[in-house]
Amino acid sequence: MIELVEKLEKQGSLSEKELTMLIEGRNEAGLSDFLFEKARAVRERYYGKEIYVRGLIEFSNFCKNDCYYCGIRRSNKDVSRYRLSEDEIFECCEKGYDLGFRTFVLQGGEDPWYDEKRIESLVKGIKKRFGDCAVTLSVGEHPKEAYKRWFEAGADRFLLRHETADVVHYRALHPEELSLENRKRCLYDLKEIGYQVGCGFMVGSPFQKTEHIVKDLLFIKDFSPDMVGIGPFIPCRNTPFEKEKAGTLELTVFLLAVVRLMNPTVLMPATTALASIDPVGREKGILAGANVCMPNLSPQAVRGKYNLYDGKANSGSEAAEALAELSESVKKIGYNVVISRGDRIKA
Ligand code: 5AD
Repeated sequence: MIELVEKLEKQGSLSEKELTMLIEGRNEAGLSDFLFEKARAVRERYYGKEIYVRGLIEFSNFCKNDCYYCGIRRSNKDVSRYRLSEDEIFECCEKGYDLGFRTFVLQGGEDPWYDEKRIESLVKGIKKRFGDCAVTLSVGEHPKEAYKRWFEAGADRFLLRHETADVVHYRALHPEELSLENRKRCLYDLKEIGYQVGCGFMVGSPFQKTEHIVKDLLFIKDFSPDMVGIGPFIPCRNTPFEKEKAGTLELTVFLLAVVRLMNPTVLMPATTALASIDPVGREKGILAGANVCMPNLSPQAVRGKYNLYDGKANSGSEAAEALAELSESVKKIGYNVVISRGDRIKA
């Protein structure tokens, strides 16, 4: 297996068969440590010891979709729904700016109230007030024209996880009205328009097999995104998957390292989901090649309501106010949180 890691590092990819072998053979003694070391070396070649932070503003938990895994799916009647106003969002940014954030991530369910025009106005408003900051949208699937309009309004980046690159698996996680085809159409549109684009998937989602993960890795390689979000699936009550098992820390960090070797300059967060399943999940993610953290900048009052899954962390270092605490824990493992937009390096 060690030779496979060396080959992966050298070539930046492996065949389908080799990736399968690597993932299934990941418990070999010493293998993960070897892989993590390589992943850190690659990330440090491009990004040094820097960790970029993004202020995550979860601005609406209304969603017209009904994804089986997600806590804010429309069928979940137990969710107390909220939507931040434009002014409340500007206030979040103000607070975030003072703390040192230079990227704001606007994430929400697919909320029809926040239509093309309102999101455009939001982006313009933030860019006008905080000209030295990047704006990242994470608002789901939309027509290309909408994406274009928001890009012209100043949005810099867009996060849209592909969730799974296998059509049959996609169908097992989503209702009929959603399709992998449209998901991919969105991702290619976003890229063509000029956004820095992020895709990604959940680890250990129901029905996921090694062959699906291999497809995810090869899709990511082929798509060549600027950002990749990977976190463990965590079951959420009142969803069809409430009784399913969560993904593991072990497989998640292994895959973070593999993705780093396949995509050396990619921006990759140690996700909230990773921090939620293990008290040192974030640190382990960074030590496996992640270089971004996304603490929560939403108003205190709504923080518990954006429940994509049970036990979602939103305090301690996952809270934006605690940036000093986050910096401290990052420093302990040899890295530095920096005040920067943290754009992707084009090597
Ligand atoms: N567990 C982990 N991640 C989840 N997401 C949604 N629901 C869950 C869950 N139950 C992820 C999806 C989505 C991102 C915003 O959150 O991958 O793209």
